Amino acid sequence: MATVEIAVLFVCLGNICRSPTAHGVFEKLLAEQGLDSCIRVDSAGTGDWHLGKQPDPRTIAAGQRRGYDFSQLRARQVSEDDFSHFDYILAMDGSNLTNLQAMRPPAFKGRLSLFLPFGPGTQHEVPDPYAGGEEGFEQVLDMIEQAGEGLLAHLRSRLVNLPPLS
Ligand code: 4NP
Repeated sequence: MATVEIAVLFVCLGNICRSPTAHGVFEKLLAEQGLDSCIRVDSAGTGDWHLGKQPDPRTIAAGQRRGYDFSQLRARQVSEDDFSHFDYILAMDGSNLTNLQAMRPPAFKGRLSLFLPFGPGTQHEVPDPYAGGEEGFEQVLDMIEQAGEGLLAHLRSRLVNLPPLS
């Protein structure tokens, strides 16, 4: 049985729209590729308004339309402790990244960066869909699915104990 080699934390503001979407999409991708036992995934928000809550109903509904189940995820706030437990801390937008950089302990040797540049597009930020309409949630999913593929390709090249192809 493979052991966890890489841990990835997705971070947004509220942890009810973008980062749980990234969490659920990437977790499903890993499971489909048989990599869920060697790459661990979590998500968190820089804010504390929604602690313990399910993702936004629009996040859950948009996910369901594409075959994802985000309903079991619960919001939590990112903490300095996370820098000791994750190798990749990936922010959805520049404001999230600025907040994370202010928390970053000097000893952190992992990667703290934006998530979207792992994808093929030229956009750097996943726009906050919270105040907008349903189409914003579809756009978030489009962006995250693409960047997730890119992130997985990047991580694959770093895995030492790749499980056998099934
Ligand atoms: P998220 O979206 O950061 O993608 O989860 C938001 C959720 C809630 C709020 C802002 C953004 N809020 O202000 O409560």
